[in-house]
This record gives sequence, C-alpha cells and structure tokens, in this order.
Amino acid sequence: MNNMFDLTGKVAVVTGASSGLGRDAALCYADYGADVALLARRKEKLDEVAREITAKGRKAIPIVCDVTDEHSVEKAVAEVVEHFLKIDILLNNAGVAIMGTVDQLSEADWDTSMEVNVKGMYLMSKFVLPHMRKQRYGKIVNLASINAVVADKGYELARHAYNTSKAAVRGLTMGMAATYMEENITVNSIGPGLFESEMTIDSLFKHEDFIKLYNQLTPASRHGRKGELNGTIIYLSSDASTYVTSQHIIVDGGFTSV
Ligand SMILES: NC(=O)c1ccc[n+]([C@@H]2O[C@H](COP(=O)([O-])OP(=O)(O)OC[C@H]3O[C@@H](n4cnc5c(N)ncnc54)[C@H](OP(=O)(O)O)[C@@H]3O)[C@@H](O)[C@H]2O)c1
Repeated sequence: MNNMFDLTGKVAVVTGASSGLGRDAALCYADYGADVALLARRKEKLDEVAREITAKGRKAIPIVCDVTDEHSVEKAVAEVVEHFLKIDILLNNAGVAIMGTVDQLSEADWDTSMEVNVKGMYLMSKFVLPHMRKQRYGKIVNLASINAVVADKGYELARHAYNTSKAAVRGLTMGMAATYMEENITVNSIGPGLFESEMTIDSLFKHEDFIKLYNQLTPASRHGRKGELNGTIIYLSSDASTYVTSQHIIVDGGFTSV
C-alpha cells in the first residue's frame, strides 16, 4: 500500500532545530524517512540532534544560521542545496516569545520579536522557494500559535509583540499559499497550544496558577505532550496534504474552542 505520509527521499529544512518543538519535529521527519538540515544558532545542540538522526540511519546536516540575517540565511540555504541537492520541506519553526505589554516592551524587544518570528520566515522562504519552484514541489509549514487568536489577561503573562508576530504569520501563510499553489507548493500554518519547551518552561510553566487555569479551561484538561505536534507537522509536510493549502491547524486540546 502506498503510504502517503512516507517522506523517504525527501529533504526537510527545520529552523530552530536546536531545541523544543523544532528538535522533536526534526527527529520525527527522520523517523518518516527524510534527510534533515538543522538550522539554529547553537552549534553543539544541532550536533546532538544530527547525531540522533544519523543513528536512525538518515542523513542530517547541522548549520549555524541566524534567521534574522539575510546573508546567514542565504548561505545556509546554499549549503543545504550543495549538500542534499534539493529542498522539499521547510519547517519555519524558529521563534522567540518575549514577555511584556506595549508599555513595558523596549523597542529592541519589539524588533527582535518581529525579526525572528516574521522576518525569519520571510527570509527562509525567500531563499528556499526558488529551489521548490524549480522542481514544482514544496511543502512549507509555518509555526504560529494560539496566541495569534487569543491573548492572556492582565499584565503578568502579556506578550503583545508575540501576539502581533504570530498573527502576522497567518497573513504571510495566506499570501504565500495563494501564490505558490499553482507551482505545487503548499503553505500552511500550525497554532500550537501550550507545550513544554525552553520558551515556556521558565515563563509560563513557573506560574502554577496559570497552568492550573489552562488545564481547567482546556477540554483535554492538560497541556500538549512531547510529540503531540508531530502528527500535524508530518501531515502538512507530506503527500497526505497535496490539496491542502493556506490552512491553519490549531493543536491545543480544544483550548480555543471553548
Ligand atoms: N512551546 C509552546 O507552547 C508553543 C506554543 C505555540 C507556538 N510555539 C512556537 O513553536 C516554535 C518553537 O518554539 P519552542 O516552544 O520549541 O521554543 P524553544 O525551545 O525556545 O525553541 C525556539 C528555537 O528557535 C531558535 N531560534 C531563536 N532565535 C533564532 C534566530 N535568530 N535564528 C535561528 N534560530 C533561532 C532557537 O535556537 P537557537 O537559540 O539555538 O538559535 C530554538 O531552537 C516557536 O515559533 C514558538 O513560537 C510554541
């Protein structure tokens, strides 16, 4: 039987592959047969992920890349293509979540939020797309957040720059999807709910009251478990979703539906 989720022979590029959801996704891509280019700033962490992928019998290349820097992105994408000769999948996952309201955030923190979370996706897509267009095949998956559509009440957990940047990811996804589908390139986004990661462990998870409330308000009565985002990532990255583009799939145990 033809397995439409199989990624054997595909090349995936994952940004923010050094930790959290990006690291998990990179390992899962390898489990589904893909070779993976791992991009982030921390080389030692990327090396660890690369070793794990190699141990699974797949190829991995760790590449130091700052997604906010055009030269760094251009160089990284060129290195991927030199190494693997093509790119089939781009997981735009690198992100930062700087806490603060508009009257607390410094201009620098605002700019960093937009540069990593939005400009990073634009730059990665800009340099990857010519390779996808040439082969008339590509799957782009952008990590947004439920925080594109819901915010946290009050001051303590407010992340106004994050809300703004993640809402922008939806706009970018829609625009790109409408343009590139005729070249057989799908562009979709994912809105995760709450998952443990470097981003959330020292901020959201240390607020016990918040976690209790989140669990109470979530139909699943819990936050997301390690690996629970991967099914959606593989679906949107594989031939199981050839006619699916411009969609936003929320993976939050029902949090935003009640
Ligand atoms: N965890 C959640 O609950 C949750 C919920 C909704 C959405 N998300 C989204 O999921 C994505 C992954 O987040 P996570 O939770 O896995 O957090 P994480 O563990 O902090 O991962 C963020 C990744 O982004 C990379 N990164 C940050 N700035 C970068 C830059 N300038 N250039 C290249 N890479 C950069 C980091 O690597 P280096 O530091 O090594 O560069 C790291 O690998 C983010 O887009 C986040 O907004 C997460």
